Amino acid sequence: MTTINKITVLGSGVMGHGIAQVAATVGYNIVLRDIEQSFLDNAMKKIQWSLGKMVEKQKLSQSDADSIYGRITPVVDLKEALKGTDLLVEAVPEDMELKRKVYAEVDMYAEDKTLYASNTSTLPIGEMASLTSRPSRFIGLHFFNPPQLMPLVEVIPGHLTSSETVNLSLDLIRNIGKEPVLCKKDVVGFIVNRIFIPLIHEAAYCLDRDKAEMTQIDSAVKFKMAFPMGIFELADYTGLDVVSKASKEMISRDKKVINPHPLIERLYSQKKLGQKSGSGFYNYGSDNKYERVNLSETEAEKYDPIAIISVAANNAAWLLTNGVCDVADLDKALRLGMGLKKPLFTIVEEFGLKKVLMTLENMSNKYGEFYEPDTYLRKIAS
Ligand code: 3HC
Repeated sequence: MTTINKITVLGSGVMGHGIAQVAATVGYNIVLRDIEQSFLDNAMKKIQWSLGKMVEKQKLSQSDADSIYGRITPVVDLKEALKGTDLLVEAVPEDMELKRKVYAEVDMYAEDKTLYASNTSTLPIGEMASLTSRPSRFIGLHFFNPPQLMPLVEVIPGHLTSSETVNLSLDLIRNIGKEPVLCKKDVVGFIVNRIFIPLIHEAAYCLDRDKAEMTQIDSAVKFKMAFPMGIFELADYTGLDVVSKASKEMISRDKKVINPHPLIERLYSQKKLGQKSGSGFYNYGSDNKYERVNLSETEAEKYDPIAIISVAANNAAWLLTNGVCDVADLDKALRLGMGLKKPLFTIVEEFGLKKVLMTLENMSNKYGEFYEPDTYLRKIAS
């Protein structure tokens, strides 16, 4: 059985630099690799900022923060980055063609012992694994943004992943202080994104259909649905480039998973990418700084997010019906990956299960099969 000592993280963006920091925090030696030194410089600055926040909040001492930072080596040369590594975590942009090129190059230099993990949010693990020289030692390890604060990692085996690789990955995730949830099937959006991404589109429909204000919808999501952020706020925080790519990929694999709203593509094509570009659904004070939207219980009172909770419940029900996870893992994933303060079906009960079912039935009559209630919902409502 492989022992993980050295980890190489490929891609130093939002997820890559965060994963590197998380693993370095528990003592692993990390190589953070990107194609340009300037990307790595930027990533190392972000790591320094994040460690600084943790020192400020007394979660770390300054000397621990310095040691963590010192365990991360930024490297441009791929051959050097892969030398002696036990685990590769790939966090490059979400594009199958790019992944194909990256894995072809990685296969030229990686040692036989190296295990491959992809932090993909939506691409099929089995298909990516089959591009490589080691499909049985390839797995999806899906972290959540920001990796430094979100405790969840979805562990997704492809159809060729060995059980040894799965067990090793589950142990590794626990060793780095995170909580794994096993996504039993390599389905579109895995568990969390299957719920999160369609909600952004649904919230955009709520703007049109209910003539509601963005802050009213977001306040209602936060204060009536027990989310830590509004859904537009979370989309801006995630990045509308990420949301756009994830949406397209998910729709290309399963038309029924999202009811796409054109506003997302419009914002993306206008380069309104959310916090990272200074504007998205909302406008922000400065580019690329952690910033929250002002939401309130008073605003929440002005909107009933029944369509949003109904769509969330329906996609969650699909996961249960299709054996992707059980209710306990669903709750764990949403609590640790999206910060939900209550189990989803408890929130659904607060709105009324029958009301949710009726909402979906009415919407499916009016707007089409996307809203057709899943059998699990009918079963628990009867
Ligand atoms: N490292 C260290 N500190 C950080 C940080 C980071 N990377 N990012 C933010 N912080 C700090 C902030 O600066 C702030 O510090 P301050 O108090 O000094 O300003 C503090 O952490 C957070 O303060 P908030 O009052 O904003 O705190 P919250 O209690 O709301 O927690 C949150 C913030 C953990 C982000 C919470 O709002 C949350 O859970 N939001 C939902 C996030 C989510 O759903 N993520 C998943 C998205 S989906 C995804 O990633 C999958 C992908 O495939 C698309």
